[in-house]
Amino acid sequence: MLVAASTQSAVGWVIAVLVGFGFVAYIYANTRAAKPEVGSEIALAANRKPLDDDQVLETTRLDRSLLFALSMLGIIAVALPLYWLAEPARITNAAEGFTIRSEKRGTELFAANCARCHGPGGTGGIIATSITDDAGAFVANVSWKAPALTAVLSRFSEEEVTEILNYGRNGVMPAWGAPGGGPLTVNNLRDLIIYLRTVQLPEASMRASVDGGIRDGAKGVMLSERPTLKDALDAANRLSDPAAKAAAVKAANVDIETSLDAFVKQISDPASPFFASIYGKLVFSNTAAQGAYSCARCHTTGWSYNATQVTNTAGTPLAVKYSDGNGWFGPSLQGGATTRKFNTSATHAAFITGGSEKGKKYGNAGIGSGQMPGFGPRIDDTVKVTYPAILTEAEIQAVVAYERSMQ
Ligand code: HEC
Ligand code: HEC
Repeated sequence: MLVAASTQSAVGWVIAVLVGFGFVAYIYANTRAAKPEVGSEIALAANRKPLDDDQVLETTRLDRSLLFALSMLGIIAVALPLYWLAEPARITNAAEGFTIRSEKRGTELFAANCARCHGPGGTGGIIATSITDDAGAFVANVSWKAPALTAVLSRFSEEEVTEILNYGRNGVMPAWGAPGGGPLTVNNLRDLIIYLRTVQLPEASMRASVDGGIRDGAKGVMLSERPTLKDALDAANRLSDPAAKAAAVKAANVDIETSLDAFVKQISDPASPFFASIYGKLVFSNTAAQGAYSCARCHTTGWSYNATQVTNTAGTPLAVKYSDGNGWFGPSLQGGATTRKFNTSATHAAFITGGSEKGKKYGNAGIGSGQMPGFGPRIDDTVKVTYPAILTEAEIQAVVAYERSMQ
């Protein structure tokens, strides 16, 4: 049992100890005086035993009854404070037990309803679905990215997640809560959120995932700009002698990684001419964790279902090239939209850091829906936790610069 340290339990202990001492002292003082009466050692048959005379009734018998009453009182006097003493711990344990049971139900609900799209433990997944045109006619079967939820509480408050669950998202994630016509109750949704708390990544793993995605993207850009590195790897792969091949492939990969270190260092320098155009673009379209850390999944048409790699019934690709920030679930950021919305890069960055709040104004004439995530750290007052930032200040600065340059 957990005894919560509080003023209440401290006071309780003091009372219990005082009452205990007083009680023992009283019993001692009263029993010491009692002496056997003269002749009481002669045993008599029970039926010949004379009744107690007034003297006895008014002393020993009375004392015995009083003593009995006193001990009952003593038990109550000790038991009540003790009960009171354990109360804070009982309340804490009850709340913990409540959370543990809720988490267990949430785990089951997640496995039954969410894991098929968001992956086991919410690590992100792909769903096979089809898209239609405005008239409802079939266009193509696509694989849609279902973002990882392992940092979702860094992006959104628990109320915002509940809102997303209530109404679903973009037609690909169905509505789950009763307000959106879904099958789950308010209690189910709360259980799911308590479960989500348990799958949030520690800061270091999340950072590794975010930066891994940016680095992957950077690798693609670098190899297309420096084909010789890729050619060396291809040539190594073509060698027929296994030992020579292994050594050559290893050497080519070491070359690639070394160049990549330098490349990432170069583009992530705020003074670099590529800070916005390459680094910012990579942050914007980070593919890690099924796009969970990216902006493109909400701000670029077709990015979530790889529109450039899918063809329609006539065999033409759905998109030749993504038009970054042309608008999708989130508004278009092109054509100076963000410079009009935010007078300075600083206010723009502050918005990306905190995200939007439902019904709250942002920038020039913007009204939040609570659906634009915050990419900085988030302090949660309910559970007294600070969830780590998804993007570093430098990454936010890069993506802001990129957005402000969008044509
Ligand atoms: C049919 C597949 C599917 C199922 C089932 C599903 N989701 Fe989703 N969910 C998605 C997709 C896809 C998105 C992203 C939508 C988009 O691209 O706009 C998403 C988005 C979300 C988001 C918003 C994440 C963000 O960062 O924007 C949350 C939270 C979420 N889902 C939680 C859940 C929970 C909890 C369940 C189970 C009750 C669930 N989802 C079941 C497909 C699904
Ligand atoms: C889950 C979807 C989602 C993601 C991911 C997302 N946004 Fe947004 N964004 C929105 C929505 C929705 C709005 C509109 C404001 C609102 O509804 O609260 C918005 C608004 C904005 C605006 C203001 C535009 C305007 O004209 O009002 C900017 C700038 C912006 N987002 C940048 C970003 C950046 C940068 C990222 C990535 C680091 C990002 N967004 C990721 C959904 C998203």
